[in-house]
Amino acid sequence: MSSHTLRVGLIGAGGIGRTHLASYERVREAQIVAIVDIDEETARTAAQRVGAQAFRDVEQMLHHVEVDAVDICTPPSAHLEVASLAIEHGLHVLCEKPLAHQPNAARQMVRAAEEKGVKLMTAFCHRFHPPIVALKRLIESGELGEVVMFRNRFAVPLKGVEERWFSDKEVAGGGVLMDTSVHSIDLFRFLVGEVARVQAVTRQTNPAIGEVEDTAIALLSTADNRMGVVEASWVLAAGFNVVEVYGTEGAAMVHYWDGFKSRYKTNKMDDWQPLDESGPDRFAGEIQHFVDACLGRTELQVTGYDGLRAVEIVYEAYAIATG
Ligand SMILES: NC(=O)c1ccc[n+]([C@@H]2O[C@H](COP(=O)([O-])OP(=O)(O)OC[C@H]3O[C@@H](n4cnc5c(N)ncnc54)[C@H](O)[C@@H]3O)[C@@H](O)[C@H]2O)c1
Repeated sequence: MSSHTLRVGLIGAGGIGRTHLASYERVREAQIVAIVDIDEETARTAAQRVGAQAFRDVEQMLHHVEVDAVDICTPPSAHLEVASLAIEHGLHVLCEKPLAHQPNAARQMVRAAEEKGVKLMTAFCHRFHPPIVALKRLIESGELGEVVMFRNRFAVPLKGVEERWFSDKEVAGGGVLMDTSVHSIDLFRFLVGEVARVQAVTRQTNPAIGEVEDTAIALLSTADNRMGVVEASWVLAAGFNVVEVYGTEGAAMVHYWDGFKSRYKTNKMDDWQPLDESGPDRFAGEIQHFVDACLGRTELQVTGYDGLRAVEIVYEAYAIATG
């Protein structure tokens, strides 16, 4: 292993943990050296796949292997404890969204990382989706004029959600707003600006889901009244999944999973043009950025503070939601 390789412990080898694991194979200068999962079989299977050591908790890993960073892919209520231990040991942290299941836990994580001087990155993968990267460049170039409206719909049916931690408020911190719309809120902050006000309507369509909402709309606005609509559902039939941005000089839309091409058009154009979709996929892009930041090659572009803001805004939405 070269001295420029970041040694990473992956914590939680479930659904997204396995996606991250596959992504490290496409990332430069990082190696997964340990896998931790409270389910020993899950840890062992994942570790065998990448030639890492398997552990059942973080303390055990810290005792046996040298790591520079951890990548936290556990359910949200476990993020604080795992991150606190890692930060205490001077490790950099990449943490899945939502940064934590409630704002106070997220705040503690941000404060601890600042005090220790380690990197804390929230895994907002959509910022690294190639057409979103192209859209950000387009906005910054001024070609769309002043961006005034935003719309983001992420509504992929989540089968069996009533039987998983996603619908357990204590673990997840909320329903589809906390799970899915944290991404949308972050995209609004990334592409449009800081959220100054939020309004929301939530609904439970499937009563078996228990306490949390499975469908929601939130309205976001900046201090100067640029505005966004965020739509999310776990239970509606598949439809468009799209990020739309409207400016005074042009518009752009990024499509996900629905076969439509991402495109943009300005007042100077006769027809829509494709947005550049080339580049590493969003997970490889996200992890490469974390690795580069930990190795001092770039400034962290998406931080613990970004994760905290998204959780705070979801909580504001819950406080005033009707439904
Ligand atoms: N960015 C994305 O697109 C995306 C997609 C899916 C999930 N997520 C996020 O990733 C996280 C995990 O979601 P998932 O779908 O992979 O869940 P999952 O239930 O499939 O996997 C979680 C894994 O963590 C393990 N685990 C639980 N507590 C642990 C602990 N204290 N220490 C070690 N391991 C522990 C479980 O045994 C399980 O293997 C959540 O925060 C979720 O919101 C993000």
